[in-house]
Amino acid sequence: MKKLKNWDNKTWLSSKSYISQFNKFLKRKSNLNKNSKILDIGCGRANIISALQQKYKFRNKPTGIDIVANKDVKRNIVFKKIEALKYLKKQKKYDLILIKQTIHFFTKTKLNHLLNLSKKSLNPKGKILIFSLKTKNNKIPCFKKMRKNLEKSLKRDEVLFQIIKKNLKKISYANFNYKVNISKQKYVRMIKERYISCLLNMNNKEIKFGISEIKSKYKNQIKFTDTLKCISYRK
Ligand SMILES: C[S@@+](CC[C@H](N)C(=O)[O-])C[C@H]1O[C@@H](n2cnc3c(N)ncnc32)[C@H](O)[C@@H]1O
Repeated sequence: MKKLKNWDNKTWLSSKSYISQFNKFLKRKSNLNKNSKILDIGCGRANIISALQQKYKFRNKPTGIDIVANKDVKRNIVFKKIEALKYLKKQKKYDLILIKQTIHFFTKTKLNHLLNLSKKSLNPKGKILIFSLKTKNNKIPCFKKMRKNLEKSLKRDEVLFQIIKKNLKKISYANFNYKVNISKQKYVRMIKERYISCLLNMNNKEIKFGISEIKSKYKNQIKFTDTLKCISYRK
């Protein structure tokens, strides 16, 4: 798969309001305090752990890892450009391992490795929180080909959820909902920049055609709910 670079590049996913609501949700799901050690796998620009660091001033700065080193990665955290499995083999210990919107990059076998190594990297009572797009009735605005690709990827995610359930066993589920209100113009820019993985393999002509479809299908302001399924595991 081509590399994803614009996921959190000035989109609602990097907005103050999204990060703040997401981190409130994280707080409810984990027992964060000054001593918490956090690892964010597939952290992108590290917006989430950076905001957590600002708020909690952890004794150990959170670590974010990603195979892509964006030039504007946040600086108040420890960032490492490294593949997740390779990093986890170092066997460092964490209280919270966050894997947000990243599992779909893994094959089934690699996902099992990721889960096994993550479990081994947890402190007693440590938590793994996995977030992924909800698979049923997903509201992300799409043009036809984009919807087709997204549905295919969500079908695969359902298989990955089964793998997670089988591997982690003691898990609980919740949903994180965020109400998006974005101008059509900004959303078109996000599509042009291939902000989501179901756009990565499309050629310029398909993107251009898709944008004209979005332009005629949606009003100037696009509103929808972005819902993530949260799978939580406690050691
Ligand atoms: C959709 S983005 C999510 C970014 C961030 N977690 C968020 O929710 O805003 C997925 C990220 O996972 C990274 N990624 C994909 N495969 C990876 C791997 N094997 N090891 C580390 N990072 C990976 C991608 O480069 C990308 O930045």
